[in-house]
Amino acid sequence: MAASTAPLDMARRAPIYASMTPVSSSNGVLDDFHPAVASWFLKTFPAPTDAQTAAWPPIRSGRSTLVAAPTGSGKTLTAFLSALDDLVQQGLAHGGELPDETLVVYVSPLKALSNDIRLNLQVPLEGIAVELAQRGLPPLDIRTAVRTGDTTQQERNALKKRAPHILVTTPESLYVLLGSDSGRRMLASTRTVIVDEIHALAGSKRGSHLALSLERLDALCGRRLPRIGLSATQKPIEAVARFLVGATSRWRFRRCRSKR
Ligand SMILES: Nc1ncnc2c1ncn2[C@@H]1O[C@H](COP(=O)(O)OP(=O)(O)OP(=O)(O)O)[C@@H](O)[C@H]1O
Ligand SMILES: [Mg+2]
Repeated sequence: MAASTAPLDMARRAPIYASMTPVSSSNGVLDDFHPAVASWFLKTFPAPTDAQTAAWPPIRSGRSTLVAAPTGSGKTLTAFLSALDDLVQQGLAHGGELPDETLVVYVSPLKALSNDIRLNLQVPLEGIAVELAQRGLPPLDIRTAVRTGDTTQQERNALKKRAPHILVTTPESLYVLLGSDSGRRMLASTRTVIVDEIHALAGSKRGSHLALSLERLDALCGRRLPRIGLSATQKPIEAVARFLVGATSRWRFRRCRSKR
């Protein structure tokens, strides 16, 4: 089945197209991942999908990237595995210690986030922990938390006390967090934003609201954060790309389409 991913970057603004079909090897695309992360991935899956192969290089170089590929092509894991690898490499560089800071904000319009999180965060985290232990490396306490309108007061208090490294949230809860002192303290350390199901947001009121929150997050962090957009449709891909990086950003597409 032909399909597309479209990573897009803000520094050089280069998008890429490829298909979702797994390729026969990792093609070196995992070479700059920590061996524990790469090993977990290659023991779990036969190979990166073309979406992953196309998207990881621009994501890893810190560029804003739009990944547009059909449902089930590994987009969510594409974004999360790169984020997890950053945390693993940072933690190991500091003797196994990670600061209590939120480094990745994942925003999804879907409220039922728990299944995605289990598949794309908890399962890799458990597998990577095994790989680290097998290499005699220190365990890493990489924490994730979900913050939606359904989050209980007790859970909200826990978030205030100790920030998760990866915050999973909705556009509405991101807006609420940006309006509170404790939320702003937590978000100020963000380095990367992931916007999942971005096709469902672009062009809607909810999307406009999120676009504003993303700009506020940049202002809070004092810099333009790399944005990773994940889209299950590519029509019109240009509109989704423009939504991801903002109307005033300049960008261009680089297309590489796979037939498989
Ligand atoms: N390289 C891979 N090879 C095989 N399966 C993979 C690969 N990467 C991820 N998967 C698995 O494929 C399934 C779908 O992945 P994921 O949820 O990331 O897809 P998606 O593109 O985000 O889909 P959707 O558009 O429905 O959100 C998950 O079970 C995931 O673990
Ligand atoms: Mg997904």
